[in-house]
Amino acid sequence: MAGSSFGTLFTVTTFGESHGPALGVTVDGCPAGLSLRTWDIQRELDRRRPGAHPKASDGSDQDPKLNPASTSRKEADECEILSGVYNDITTGTPITIVVRNTNQNSGDYSDIADAFRPGHADWGFTQKYGCRDWRGGGRASARETIGRVAAGAIAKKFLAEAGITILAWTSEAAGITCEEFDEAEIERNPLRAPCPIKAQQMLDRIVALKAAGDSCGGVITCRVSGNIPAGLGEPVFDKLDALLAHAVLSIGAVKGIEFGSGFESARMTGSTWNDQMRNGTSADKPVFVTNHAGGIIGGLSSGQDILFRAAIKPIPSISIPQHTIDTKGVERTIAISGRHDVCACPRVVPVIEAMTAITLMDLLLRNRASRIY
Ligand SMILES: Cc1cc2nc3c(=O)[nH]c(=O)nc-3n(C[C@H](O)[C@H](O)[C@H](O)COP(=O)(O)O)c2cc1C
Repeated sequence: MAGSSFGTLFTVTTFGESHGPALGVTVDGCPAGLSLRTWDIQRELDRRRPGAHPKASDGSDQDPKLNPASTSRKEADECEILSGVYNDITTGTPITIVVRNTNQNSGDYSDIADAFRPGHADWGFTQKYGCRDWRGGGRASARETIGRVAAGAIAKKFLAEAGITILAWTSEAAGITCEEFDEAEIERNPLRAPCPIKAQQMLDRIVALKAAGDSCGGVITCRVSGNIPAGLGEPVFDKLDALLAHAVLSIGAVKGIEFGSGFESARMTGSTWNDQMRNGTSADKPVFVTNHAGGIIGGLSSGQDILFRAAIKPIPSISIPQHTIDTKGVERTIAISGRHDVCACPRVVPVIEAMTAITLMDLLLRNRASRIY
């Protein structure tokens, strides 16, 4: 299988299947000297884990069943750093991180061993490779994102040292949209939504959909803020928005991305869209009056916040009966049992943050070669 690597200087290669012995990532190109402990990676993996929200009042994880958006699978997802770190400092050599699979139940998937799930990758994988690991989706499983989140944790540390912060949240789920924004609320509710009232409305709809055997999608918003230098990105094929789109659209279930005013831009005029510039504190720190561009112009960062939204489709594995065919081409009706998410949004939030961090770290390193003086 080609295409399991991403990045130019900071290169991330994920490996493993959901029902194999382990999954993980090898990161090449991380500079020596970055402080990195197992906990830096584990805390991000814990955010990705099924049902990791909300935390109990003592800070411990609650029973996944309390989060109806998430699968009831209990996955420990404990990571181990195999290489590239000595005395909690990166050595400049490849960093390999593994997570062993411990709660896999192949029986959950026996009903799809010879039938293709509508909306999932089963059909395409079989046509492409002539064989398929049906136990949990193989490489198309959401567990593949473990490697991305582990690599993203490294990139987030690097970006934090550069004064850059990434924050993503669920801005819409099950048809409910959050207009209010309280940042402190995001990690307090199971949807990772920035408004407790809307989060509850989302959950109520998700509970009803789950009872009906159905699923739903939503929208995730991502904001990069802090000390973003102007000029990040390479202005032809590796534009910042093109690379972020590549990174984010490579996550399962992500179906669209828009930057700044996005598709709404098509209905605006030049005079209302253009982000006008005013004199700032210094010549290299202008003030932009608006941010319709989402912080990216000409494929390069402007120095403003980078803003984008990603559309997340409904979870494909549902227990409502649907038409499909089996591997012999015979028509079947399939109702998928097993432990599946109902809405992927809260679990995709840390994955989007991770892919954004990986993209920005790579471009920050590439930027060091952009000019002599
Ligand atoms: C964090 C996360 C959790 C997911 N959980 C499930 C799940 O429980 N069941 C399922 O069928 N698909 C789930 N998906 C979606 C599938 O992985 C995805 O739809 C599938 O790989 C097909 O790819 P596509 O949707 O990008 O076309 C999840 C995706 C992500 C990123």
